[in-house]
Amino acid sequence: MHLKDSKFFKYFATYVSRDPLNDRSVNDTFESFPTVDSAKLARFSKRPKNVKMLTSDFIEDSLYNPHYGYFNKEVEIFQTEKPFDYNNIRDNDEFINQWYKEYKKYEPPVATEKTDSGVMDVAQKSKQQSVQLWHTPTELFLPFYGEALANYILMNYKLNQYPYNDLIIYEMGGGNGTLMANILSYIRQHQPDIYARTKYKIIEISSKLASKQMKSAISLKLAENNLDASKVQIINKSIFEWDTKVTDPCYFIALEVFDNFSHDVVRYDNLTQQPYQGYVSVDDNGDFKEFYSPELTPYTKSFLNLRERTKFASNGDNQDLSLMERAKKVWKPQMPLDEPLYWRQMKNQWWPFRYGLSQAEYVPTRLVEFFHILKYKFPNHSLLTSDFHYLPDALPGYTAPVVQTMLGSKMVTTDTYMVYQGFFDIMFPTNFELACELYREITGKTAALASHRAFLEQWADVDHTKTKKGENPMLNFYQNASFMYS
Ligand SMILES: C[S@@+](CC[C@H](N)C(=O)[O-])C[C@H]1O[C@@H](n2cnc3c(N)ncnc32)[C@H](O)[C@@H]1O
Repeated sequence: MHLKDSKFFKYFATYVSRDPLNDRSVNDTFESFPTVDSAKLARFSKRPKNVKMLTSDFIEDSLYNPHYGYFNKEVEIFQTEKPFDYNNIRDNDEFINQWYKEYKKYEPPVATEKTDSGVMDVAQKSKQQSVQLWHTPTELFLPFYGEALANYILMNYKLNQYPYNDLIIYEMGGGNGTLMANILSYIRQHQPDIYARTKYKIIEISSKLASKQMKSAISLKLAENNLDASKVQIINKSIFEWDTKVTDPCYFIALEVFDNFSHDVVRYDNLTQQPYQGYVSVDDNGDFKEFYSPELTPYTKSFLNLRERTKFASNGDNQDLSLMERAKKVWKPQMPLDEPLYWRQMKNQWWPFRYGLSQAEYVPTRLVEFFHILKYKFPNHSLLTSDFHYLPDALPGYTAPVVQTMLGSKMVTTDTYMVYQGFFDIMFPTNFELACELYREITGKTAALASHRAFLEQWADVDHTKTKKGENPMLNFYQNASFMYS
């Protein structure tokens, strides 16, 4: 009899080793788990157990689950009481000091109360401390950043659509509603006739932020600026649930939304180059494991196929490339198969437990899906988007995310995306050059790219954000962000 079949082994596996899989192999367990997706998980208020799902569903559930997802409970977007008076600030350092002072108001009050048992209420304390705060250029440089975007839209609209069409603006992920107020206010001031024909619609996945936009932006900001609330509509849904076709020409804004679009993970067989797609299983204890399958989902397949039509094609060991092009790929590989064959073979020998698979590549399957939504649901849109092209402290791998959370007053990062769902922000950099090519392949439209600085130099009134010493925080900060516009 095999040892594994003995009573002793079963007893040991079940009660002594506390092996959550008992005597089953990891693969058997993976196979036995039902597959779920983020839409199904959204119906449950508890984190799942004994299931498996695509990596993209795991990340999506962690970020967006309506009960425990990161976006629905932990998030706030930094807002200043009033705009910074840049012209009366000495330099970038003093700007940072003033920003820091404003930031302090978000710090939780020190919990001094004791519970009946005399012990500090730790749950309450950690809840207070775990509020995550985003800093976005819209808020930091208000109203000038929003005005730059308004200026770009107005110019573009007057050139291409005026007077035949109304000005319709969609904003995906409206945050606190600040951009909307700044853009409408600028249009009203500079072009009242166009303002009369303007409509602004926010598509917002977070119910918390959507109601904040209703309350603070519409009633306060719009009233303060003498703006007409009937111009604004807030639609509380994910862009991925969008089902109506908007045939009117419109501007579609997305600022700092791509970075939270879920990704799938792919590893390639180092020798045959076959791609394998990642899954995550969650066992009875809530522990996570990653698995790979040769079956690719349609969006992963679509991404890999579309990329082959761009200059980012995985030429791997393609002999047609010039020596220079090969050297460039080796020097700065964009995906695992850009690494030369001998190097991948060597890796197989060094890391036998990777089963001959390459490093992970995180592929933007949600971005591909979003471009399809633009094509079919907003066929006459012009896109205006900005996000990070680079993020420090990312996980190992290609286009890998940063996974971070606030612990007390400290930001901590982890080395895996498989973390307790809802407690971590999972942010991906965007390869904008590739995004432009994918956008063209999918929508048939061309898009241009500019660095954060170059775009604002062209469209903002940069004198307003100049400090006394001549430094310009709006241009100097966010050097790792880019604009893409069509
Ligand atoms: C980092 S915040 C940026 C907010 C704002 N654009 C700004 O720059 O201040 C990201 C925003 O996108 C929203 N969001 C994320 N994914 C979304 C989706 N799939 N559909 C609609 N909104 C989404 C979030 O709820 C949030 O309002």
